[in-house]
Amino acid sequence: MRKTGRTAEQRQRQEHWPAPPIGDTEIADRELGCLVKYMLGDECGQGGTSKVIAGTEVATGRPVAVKVLDRAPGEDAFFATNFENEIRILRALAHPHVMPVLDAGLTDAGQAYLVMPLMQGGDLWHVLEAIKAGHERILAFWTRRRQRRAFLQLASAVRHAHRHGIIHRDLKPSNVLFDRHGHVRLSDWGLAGPPGSLTFAPEGSHRGLVGDSSHAVGGTAGYMSPEHVGGVGRDIGIRSDIWSLGAILYELLTLHPVVNGQTEDEKMVSTRRGALLDLRVHARLGEIPKALAQVVIRALAHDATDRYATVDDFAAALRQAPWPDQMPGRLGLGNPATDKHTWRSPAAGEGL
Ligand SMILES: Nc1ncnc2c1ncn2[C@@H]1O[C@H](COP(=O)(O)OP(=O)(O)O)[C@@H](O)[C@H]1O
Ligand SMILES: [Mg+2]
Repeated sequence: MRKTGRTAEQRQRQEHWPAPPIGDTEIADRELGCLVKYMLGDECGQGGTSKVIAGTEVATGRPVAVKVLDRAPGEDAFFATNFENEIRILRALAHPHVMPVLDAGLTDAGQAYLVMPLMQGGDLWHVLEAIKAGHERILAFWTRRRQRRAFLQLASAVRHAHRHGIIHRDLKPSNVLFDRHGHVRLSDWGLAGPPGSLTFAPEGSHRGLVGDSSHAVGGTAGYMSPEHVGGVGRDIGIRSDIWSLGAILYELLTLHPVVNGQTEDEKMVSTRRGALLDLRVHARLGEIPKALAQVVIRALAHDATDRYATVDDFAAALRQAPWPDQMPGRLGLGNPATDKHTWRSPAAGEGL
């Protein structure tokens, strides 16, 4: 394996900037073909269809994240189409809280890649896990005030997409990324598209599954709205994303997913039945202000027509509602001892 020497700047970054290690290995040394523009380090994320590698752009020295489709185009047309879809949408949706695309193309080995700024604050899934595990630096950084600001930034990214006729359709904590100052960039737009349409995933996909197994619907169980789970494409629109935002906000406020279930199927069934956890319990216990609980409950209404009509309306209601000062504690939620996930990514939040 060919190695290149580390520059003083890279050594310094590694010592003083606890981001994922910026690598010494040229991308050409990996199985990705010839992409000598970037020096790659460790994987900083793995999705269902791709891996994300932290690196440095050689020409500028700026930290980047290179998302590489795990399969060569042609090997699986569905995933390749999603990847192209993501690149096209990211290019169209320039916004301070939408992930920018710096570069994209095909490696010599034929794999599609997409280059983004490296988000050194990690993703919200990791942040929530760290909060549940009592990670002191993360708890100190992620005050309720910052959480509120971040959620409103996320909402502004979704609103921007809606104004451009795009529904994200896969809003969930692991797709909400933070830079080292805690500013949000919404990513993973592979399933996004115009309202009234559905993305179908092939059988065996990790994405949500609805109906017969040949007809899996793209999305993630636990964050897909009832109409999305129901697989009726024409019903999926702005209010479906609002439901997913409500699910994310519920989790941010309580440190517990709003949909119970061990398996994807159980979560889908609960969502379809409208059997969600209820924020009124937290409100009664004084953990969440009642007015805030009401806003989240409305965003999560089973019937889409009972939800906010636009992200603007949702965000306006949120701005007026009081936020809690403290993290939840009394319900014993998010107990690290009972949680199978642990804080594993050195990237997520360490740079905060
Ligand atoms: N720009 C980035 N900087 C740092 N980490 C990233 C970046 N993009 C993605 N990741 C990490 O990789 C994970 C998977 O990326 P994502 O785009 O969601 O892929 P997938 O479509 O396969 O789910 C994210 O949840 C996050 O942890
Ligand atoms: Mg993702």
